[in-house]
Amino acid sequence: MAQLHILLGLLALLLSVVVSVNGSLCRIPIQRSPNFKRTRAAAKAEMFYIAKKYNLNVATNSTGVEQLSNYDNFQYYGSINIGTPGQNFQVQFDTGSSNLWIPSSQCTSSSCMVHTRYSSYQSSTYKSNGSIFNITYGTGSVSGFMSQDVVSVAGLVIRNQTFGEVTSESGSNFLNASFDGILGLAFPMLAVNLVTPFFQNLISQKVVQQPVFSFYLRNNGTTVTYGGELILGGSDPKLYRGKLTYVPVSYPAYWQFYTDSIQMGNTLISTGDAAIADTGTSLLVAPQAEYTQIAKIFNADSDGVFACGKISKWPTMYIKINGVSFQITPEYYIIQEGYYCALAIQPASQDFWILGDVFLGRYYTEFDVGNQRLGFAPVNAANTLGQSGVLGLLMVLAVYKMFFH
Ligand SMILES: *[C@@H]1O[C@H](CO)[C@@H](O)[C@H](O)[C@H]1NC(C)=O
Ligand SMILES: *[C@@H]1O[C@H](CO)[C@@H](O)[C@H](O)[C@H]1NC(C)=O
Ligand SMILES: *[C@@H]1O[C@H](CO)[C@@H](O)[C@H](O)[C@H]1NC(C)=O
Ligand SMILES: *[C@@H]1O[C@H](CO)[C@@H](O)[C@H](O)[C@H]1NC(C)=O
Ligand SMILES: *[C@@H]1O[C@H](CO)[C@@H](O)[C@H](O)[C@H]1NC(C)=O
Ligand SMILES: *[C@@H]1O[C@H](CO)[C@@H](O)[C@H](O)[C@H]1NC(C)=O
Repeated sequence: MAQLHILLGLLALLLSVVVSVNGSLCRIPIQRSPNFKRTRAAAKAEMFYIAKKYNLNVATNSTGVEQLSNYDNFQYYGSINIGTPGQNFQVQFDTGSSNLWIPSSQCTSSSCMVHTRYSSYQSSTYKSNGSIFNITYGTGSVSGFMSQDVVSVAGLVIRNQTFGEVTSESGSNFLNASFDGILGLAFPMLAVNLVTPFFQNLISQKVVQQPVFSFYLRNNGTTVTYGGELILGGSDPKLYRGKLTYVPVSYPAYWQFYTDSIQMGNTLISTGDAAIADTGTSLLVAPQAEYTQIAKIFNADSDGVFACGKISKWPTMYIKINGVSFQITPEYYIIQEGYYCALAIQPASQDFWILGDVFLGRYYTEFDVGNQRLGFAPVNAANTLGQSGVLGLLMVLAVYKMFFH
């Protein structure tokens, strides 16, 4: 009996530790798509998707583009509920856009049929809106009408959220995506139809204490589907090393800021370039002139392909932000396919960089809406909540064994 009490005491202690870690932070587990592959073809397909998303021109040697599908690039997603009772959806949490959309029960496109669809008539909190929307992505588009309902995420409830019910998905962009829709986390300025974005409603309805969210993404090449966490209401210092380096948002539409400089080894590529943190992109996208300089270092052809040899002989990339150098070692920005390699860095016609998972998977990122700033710090890959939970369980089991055997 005494042993049982000790065991229960230890369990309570463990639970209190977990709860205090949680504090006022709301954690949403992020899944990693089992389909995700970093390949040269996937990088090309993604560039067409990114170009449409950012309304850019890419050098289009578009032979076979229609056959390329982007779904291999959709790495991270998580779970939300819409309506009463809640209907569950998997969504991509995208800091590069500002609308929430999911397939409608009225949609019979094949992309909708293979995903979960929202039924307004099954929700007692549904309110109609009816405004039309149309968003173009890559080789297709999603269109439909707006609706309003309750959205809940990991126990947080947001009322009166206006979102897109997709009635038609053309193209195959999302056909094989592991998620049903997209939840945009960029600023209101980008929102189609001037809809108040999810996080702005979360702030005005005082659902979180601090107007801050943060991403811990794991992209270290394991096949584990636990992909990290989206944290609403703040940051968890256990998930990163050292202090966050802050930088002001330079223009609150995308999560845009100025870098001090970008270097490849000793070669200076740029000073004072703008960059965007985009959790909905997997690659790094460089302005054309900067990309040309980088391609020269690798002697890469027009497709970014080069003979690579040993990956570790290539230089480390340094992105300096507010005086601190953030490194990306070659195994993260090079895609190896046998003898040949390609860069996970692609060119486009814009004058800013787009930092996708190649960067965000190495650096914990705090999106501070209240102070309009971003914070970056190296991820603490060794100390995740999931792992400490498992560790705690093992501890309890060990204690149990000690006392009962
Ligand atoms: C376009 O790509 C194809 C296949 O990769 C290649 O054979 C062709 O030379 C390229 N064309 C241009 C104009 O770069
Ligand atoms: C949405 O926009 C795209 C590109 O402008 C167009 O091809 C498509 O027909 C539009 N769809 C609807 C339903 O308006
Ligand atoms: C939601 O909208 C209704 C009116 O449609 C309003 O009465 C209610 O206060 C709103 N709730 C929130 C949390 O904004
Ligand atoms: C994509 O999804 C469709 C419909 O579910 C399926 O038939 C097809 O095999 C999938 N393609 C790939 C490459 O997974
Ligand atoms: C639909 O939503 C938009 C954006 O929130 C709003 O401006 C508009 O007034 C709404 N229309 C109706 C009929 O509720
Ligand atoms: C990847 O993650 C696993 C599990 O957390 C860890 O054991 C491994 O060291 C990590 N590898 C790299 C290269 O970060």
